[in-house]
Amino acid sequence: MYKNVPIIPLAVIGIVIAAITAAQALLIDWLPPAQSEQAERTFGLLWFLFWLSAIFFVIVTSILVYAVWKWRAKDDDLEDGPPHHGNTKLEIVWTTIPVIALITVAVYGYIVLERNEAVAADRVNVDVYAQQFNWTYGYPDAGIETGTLVVPVDRQVQLNLRARDVIHDFWVPEFGIKGDAVPGITHTLWINPTKEGTYPVICAELCGVGHSVMRSEVKVVSEQEFQAFLTRSTGRVKAGTAAATAAAKLETAPGDEAAGKTIFEAKCSGCHAGLGTEAGGVGPQLKGTTLDTAGIRNVAKNGRGAMPGGLVSGTELADVVAYVESIK
Ligand code: CUA
Repeated sequence: MYKNVPIIPLAVIGIVIAAITAAQALLIDWLPPAQSEQAERTFGLLWFLFWLSAIFFVIVTSILVYAVWKWRAKDDDLEDGPPHHGNTKLEIVWTTIPVIALITVAVYGYIVLERNEAVAADRVNVDVYAQQFNWTYGYPDAGIETGTLVVPVDRQVQLNLRARDVIHDFWVPEFGIKGDAVPGITHTLWINPTKEGTYPVICAELCGVGHSVMRSEVKVVSEQEFQAFLTRSTGRVKAGTAAATAAAKLETAPGDEAAGKTIFEAKCSGCHAGLGTEAGGVGPQLKGTTLDTAGIRNVAKNGRGAMPGGLVSGTELADVVAYVESIK
């Protein structure tokens, strides 16, 4: 039955196509290094799917290329060719193989999903707030909010994604996972970071004119550093709460320029280019503003136009005002 199969030409074509396919996969850096357990599993599944598809691609394309070359109709040949009837054996083979392949992919995919979403008892809870055009992170157990996501290594982090205006999408390429933040819905993601470092948080859903600058950072730190971060931040908030009785006083007290710059970088620089010193961002350049201190405080507190209010309050507001004063 197989004596008519042209093994050698098919093999030559197959090797060429396989080499081109493999080169595409191996020579290009398609994925970032996996820095979470989820990324390791997801990237593993992705490559499995790729190589499985590559095998079928090479087989089908090789036969196709050979057939087109070998049995090309002559220019003056207008016949339909001899009639063909079914080949039962061949049909069983080309049905069975895809069925097995699909079941394998489904089982593998299910296992990855199941493991990626297995919830750990000692997980850290973080509320992620997305809004045009920045990210804010709340730690409900510690009662604090930050502009940079800080998480401990080798421990599960549960991210509760929320949107304050339109649909955004939380994406850390190194974590191999992303999720939509939809107004009115809390969408949960679980991440087990495996390596300390700083990685970008990117908004992956077109959400308005500042979408491309809606970025932030995630810092993966040791458990010890994480606890220190919580204590430090809680201390700041407590100091703020204690003085909240004189909230107005707190906001109008002289702020700290350097602290203001850090807050500005986390919460405002997505829209105000060059930390407020340059034009061309979504928001206006702040250098050269004609606003006086009270005016700056008012805009920073209540927002104006497309800029939302409430991004900073208390001592943070005073610090940001001090920073803007220093560059204006
Ligand atoms: Cu938020 Cu794109």
